[in-house]
Amino acid sequence: MQLKQENILIVDDDINILELLQRHLQSWNYHTYKAVSVKEAVQILRDTKIDLLITDLKMPEIDGSELIKFVEENYPNLPKLVVTGYPSVQDSLKAIKSGVVAYLTKPFTKDELKQAIDKSLGNIEKPKSSNEINISEVKNKPYGEIIGVSEKINDVIQIIERVKNNKATIFIKGESGTGKELVARAIHYEGKFSRAPFIAVNCGGIPENLLESELFGYTKGAFTGAEKNRDGFFQAANGGTIFLDEIGNASTAVQSRLLRVLQEKEVVKVGAQKAEKIDVRIIAATNSDLREMIKKEGFREDLYYRLTVVEIDVAPLRERKEDIPLLVEKFLFKYGIEYKDRFIKISTEASAILQRYDWPGNIRELENVIQRSVIMCDKIIGVTHLPSLLKFTIDFPDNQLLTLKEVEKKHIQKVLNFTNNNKTKAAEILGIDRKTIRQKLND
Ligand SMILES: Nc1ncnc2c1ncn2[C@@H]1O[C@H](COP(=O)(O)OP(=O)(O)OP(=O)(O)O)[C@@H](O)[C@H]1O
Ligand SMILES: [Mg+2]
Repeated sequence: MQLKQENILIVDDDINILELLQRHLQSWNYHTYKAVSVKEAVQILRDTKIDLLITDLKMPEIDGSELIKFVEENYPNLPKLVVTGYPSVQDSLKAIKSGVVAYLTKPFTKDELKQAIDKSLGNIEKPKSSNEINISEVKNKPYGEIIGVSEKINDVIQIIERVKNNKATIFIKGESGTGKELVARAIHYEGKFSRAPFIAVNCGGIPENLLESELFGYTKGAFTGAEKNRDGFFQAANGGTIFLDEIGNASTAVQSRLLRVLQEKEVVKVGAQKAEKIDVRIIAATNSDLREMIKKEGFREDLYYRLTVVEIDVAPLRERKEDIPLLVEKFLFKYGIEYKDRFIKISTEASAILQRYDWPGNIRELENVIQRSVIMCDKIIGVTHLPSLLKFTIDFPDNQLLTLKEVEKKHIQKVLNFTNNNKTKAAEILGIDRKTIRQKLND
């Protein structure tokens, strides 16, 4: 049996329908994945490259329309076919509006199903000319987990696209929590060396005296305790990618060995005379200013230039705030399912606060805030569920020229937000008594 290239995911809480669909699909040689809930479907989507989603709408726990919404946002090119027992006009309109290609009501015939699938997959029967792009290759490429619509994140994706299939050395810089490791993983896993190992080494997390032997390996007797020859991370990553995180922490000894790897494409184990040839793509990352370190002679300039063949600058979140809503959505989904077994929403006011905050800890901080707020709320994250720090640091827009009285009022309100409306605490912070707070607010 020659399996077709397409992977089809079918989602229905009714096992009989699932099996019926699977039987039909298998008779046309499609490879199928089955899920009885949205939760399972999301798991499969995360782990597998799916080319068509067939889903029911009415399901217990999480509704199929939520799944469609999730797919729209995370896998925008994935075609969707809705199969439902409730042919209400409203449902169908809602589904079609969100990019569903075809719509099928139960009961349906095998022919109707075939037609709907062909329509959804864009007439795959059509012969392909040799220079036509393979649809299943370009479809459904979420770039690892990288989410964002900003120009800055788009630029990053463009570079990933250019470097993923070659072994040029890459240097990723950006503040803490901006997604440097995510970018490194995307380069490796989206490219043609993805089956080879990806080894991430935190150069700041390994004691300085061990880093050298951990990276390059050692020979028997190289130092006390070296009882036999051992490979290092570089040998382990052979054929694939080594990700050297926090490269600014590498000692001078490690730096000079690295230089040799980059120049000669070979590593020498600690204690060894002979070099071994090695074929590894190096991706280095840092959130410290290496140029400043070069000036202070903490980092070798020649190594710096060899490491920065391709530079990727991952912008802080405050410079790409248009990515915030999508990221919030992603984390709401992730933690809603994890902690509450449901989709959690966020109020407009709370959303506005997230949008205005400056996120010094970048995406990692945003993720932590959403995680915490999901735990604190019932169904909807409101302003009260957000950490006080966020409410406190929000400023009113610069272009708003206020009177002193208005500024005073807003400031009192801000402090009250911070203390979750605890007037005694607020009075303490403001250095006035509780009565005055009330007075000033009523002024
Ligand atoms: N564009 C993005 N889309 C989705 N998730 C993201 C994005 N950028 C970062 N994240 C998430 O934010 C968290 C922090 O990302 P990552 O660990 O890659 O940051 P980093 O720059 O390596 O941080 P550090 O310098 O602190 O090591 C991770 O959980 C990652 O999955
Ligand atoms: Mg990191």
